Amino acid sequence: MAQKILYDTDPGVDDAMALLLLARHPEVELVGITSVFGNAPIETTTRNALYLKQLFGIAAPVARGAAKALGSAEMPAGAAFVHGDNGLGNIPIPEVTAKADPRPAAQFIVDIVRAHPGEVTIVAVGRMTNLAEALALDPGIAPLVKAVSVMGGAFGRNGHFGNVTPVAEANIIGDPVAADIVFGARWPMTIVGLDVTHESVMTDAYMRALAAEAGTDGAFLWEVSRFYAGFYTKSQQYLDGFAVHDSSAVAAVLHPEFFTYARGPVRVIADGIASGQTILRPEGYYDRARDWDGRPSCNVAVTVDAAAFLRFYRDTIIDGAR
Ligand code: BDR
Ligand code: CA
Repeated sequence: MAQKILYDTDPGVDDAMALLLLARHPEVELVGITSVFGNAPIETTTRNALYLKQLFGIAAPVARGAAKALGSAEMPAGAAFVHGDNGLGNIPIPEVTAKADPRPAAQFIVDIVRAHPGEVTIVAVGRMTNLAEALALDPGIAPLVKAVSVMGGAFGRNGHFGNVTPVAEANIIGDPVAADIVFGARWPMTIVGLDVTHESVMTDAYMRALAAEAGTDGAFLWEVSRFYAGFYTKSQQYLDGFAVHDSSAVAAVLHPEFFTYARGPVRVIADGIASGQTILRPEGYYDRARDWDGRPSCNVAVTVDAAAFLRFYRDTIIDGAR
């Protein structure tokens, strides 16, 4: 039976690549897409989500989400230097005729979870603001969600640091208060951070092969990823290719065996120079700081079989190509 997945996203080049993976996987039933600010302002990420729905032939509705972090007065600027001014690597975007669902994302999430108790998995690959707002609207949804898989965080494993500060990853520092709420809620939580997403790299050769073998989907993946690949080269993180962030959170749902996990409650630092830091207290660890007490254990991905994951991405896209 197909897995019901709700995708919370800030498209975003790697968000678009992960959405294509969901759209083409034969055992996924996308039940909704919710947009959030992040890689670009909310108008842009919502427009991009609607464009991708149209382009990929997705039936699920798109609901517009938060424009800024919880409790913040500031309208965030986005990350044009990573994802381009239009959020999709500056590819031309034609007129978008698809319309957003009238409900705000938080209400939409509550409605979908309540309509399918115990069946919906949420994959969240942007700021966690919509999820925190949904919990505030209806705290009773947490135990009704099948699982949550988040791309976010940096736990200092495998020699990887944060990508905004030495300890903070973009999705978490963009709304640390929301992330702390979401990691403390009583739903089965998997956190896929830079510790593993920086281990999986799509090289130029990998992308060229996809472009050649996956029809119009392959051509789209090639085009949309050029600016993004350029950012990774310019910033000298990878000389050939780019890290695979958001698709890793999708893979953790469809193939959890690609990863190994540490378990324990996770707290997020909300201000100061360590703002956005994600701290796991491993299960069974003794300490005198009580700030993790009473919070549920999360699965934190600490290793990945990158070859298996990259093969899975390629095979799913080629098999589902249009
Ligand atoms: C995360 O931040 C965004 O730029 C990407 O889409 C990804 O979700 C990586 O830190
Ligand atoms: Ca994202």
